[in-house]
Amino acid sequence: MNKEDFVIGKPLPETICDKHGRMLLREGFIIKNSKQLKFVCELFDSVIEKQPDKKETLQEKAGDKDKKDNVLSNVRENMAQLDKVLRKFDDAGTSGNIIKSLETSISKISTNDCGFTGNIEDVARKIAETCTIDEDMALSCIVLQHNFNYALTHSMHVALMCEVVTRFLGWENTERFYTLCAALTMNISMFALQNKLQNKEGALTDDEVKTVRRHPQLGVLILKKLGVTNPIWLKSVLQHHESEDGSGYPGGLSGDTIGRQAKILKLADIYCARVSGRKYRKPLASDTAIQKIFKENDPTIDTKLAMALIKCIGLYLPGTFVRLSNGEIAIVTHRSSKIHQPIVHTVMDSSGLQIHVPKMRMTNCSPYEIAEVLPSHEYSYTMMEKLWQDCNRVKIYELKRKHERVRTCMEALISDADGQEALGTIINLSQSGCCIKIPNNTEMVPEINKVLLLSIPDAGDSLDKPIAAILRRVTNTNDYYYTGVEFMDLKPQQSRIVKCLLLNAVG
Ligand SMILES: [Fe+2]
Repeated sequence: MNKEDFVIGKPLPETICDKHGRMLLREGFIIKNSKQLKFVCELFDSVIEKQPDKKETLQEKAGDKDKKDNVLSNVRENMAQLDKVLRKFDDAGTSGNIIKSLETSISKISTNDCGFTGNIEDVARKIAETCTIDEDMALSCIVLQHNFNYALTHSMHVALMCEVVTRFLGWENTERFYTLCAALTMNISMFALQNKLQNKEGALTDDEVKTVRRHPQLGVLILKKLGVTNPIWLKSVLQHHESEDGSGYPGGLSGDTIGRQAKILKLADIYCARVSGRKYRKPLASDTAIQKIFKENDPTIDTKLAMALIKCIGLYLPGTFVRLSNGEIAIVTHRSSKIHQPIVHTVMDSSGLQIHVPKMRMTNCSPYEIAEVLPSHEYSYTMMEKLWQDCNRVKIYELKRKHERVRTCMEALISDADGQEALGTIINLSQSGCCIKIPNNTEMVPEINKVLLLSIPDAGDSLDKPIAAILRRVTNTNDYYYTGVEFMDLKPQQSRIVKCLLLNAVG
């Protein structure tokens, strides 16, 4: 494609991408007037030196997709592996005298059975790796993945949450790792009963109560028989139902006599149980689940650790479906520093129609505030991996800019694909992007992911072509939009000019 293909009134024959395959203008975009034609030609000149090899771009995209997809498929694979290791513990205690049946099963377990410890450690290692790829996407599995049997799924969810929270708390690797192993096996002695109780409404029988209250000790017995010797692992399983006020079981321990690993397990256990449904009740929304812990002023939990948990995972767990103030339906994709203002992606418009390309929204600005949490189990979305790619770009963009930017006060003429223009002020600048203050009485409406062209008069004639940029953040105040934009593939000449502007601003 070349510039001759751009004609007023005719749709673009193909999508214009930059060299990384990022879409600048979609195929079918109709150039309505001369202003838009000028924008498209300048954008083409600014970014494209040579159209990327289509095959290569598609391959790159497929690679990206695979990597992100891995997080979701990794968790599914981990679950299948866990199922294989733990399935044999899923048939005891479903009928008759449960404790007796369990004790018989335990006596049948041979010491160091089939490399059990190594297998669980292997699953734990893979969960940790999955969280390294993308914590937010891994956390989304707690809301989105419920296809396996309840007991196993619950253990996996608790493990994912423990890993993310203990990373947040800065625990060292060994402690984190064995807390993860404990999360996967904390209910090993009552998987079958746990699955049965999941669907049971009403009071437990005496036998069931006895089993529930003994499951931490029986769990440790089983683990020891299977060759587990690590003290953190065993102690955490033994103590995961102890309570801060001494009302828990089996030891009635309180306060500091309970290990912090067991306390985290307990919190993650309560939270994950609340956000998953039962046959007789629907899952609680993630904000309700976490608020309940505090509203109830629960004396059984460690308040400091609970505060850390809420700070780490936020009010809205990634994967949660929400309705925004403007009526759009979105999925929470990324936690932010504000627990009540995550980053979301709109997947349906206000009339409930699915949006082909999800739009990223910052819920800290109008009209994208979260208005309502929706029952996530009643919604589905099939292109999850797409949602996390943009968020990662934002994270990278923010990190890069935080370290490099300098204050400036330069004029910038901004134009967009709708033919709108605005005169703004660049208030800070870095090699990768800038923040532009734009009066909000102009016609231009800044939207996340919008492609812009910036002309900077201060750069003089040396900047012969405008700089192409993508809008990454918008904050709206009474008089101004504050927009964070990321430069796209600066050409060497443009890159040198930005460096000069930076030096002038510093000097
Ligand atoms: Fe338990």
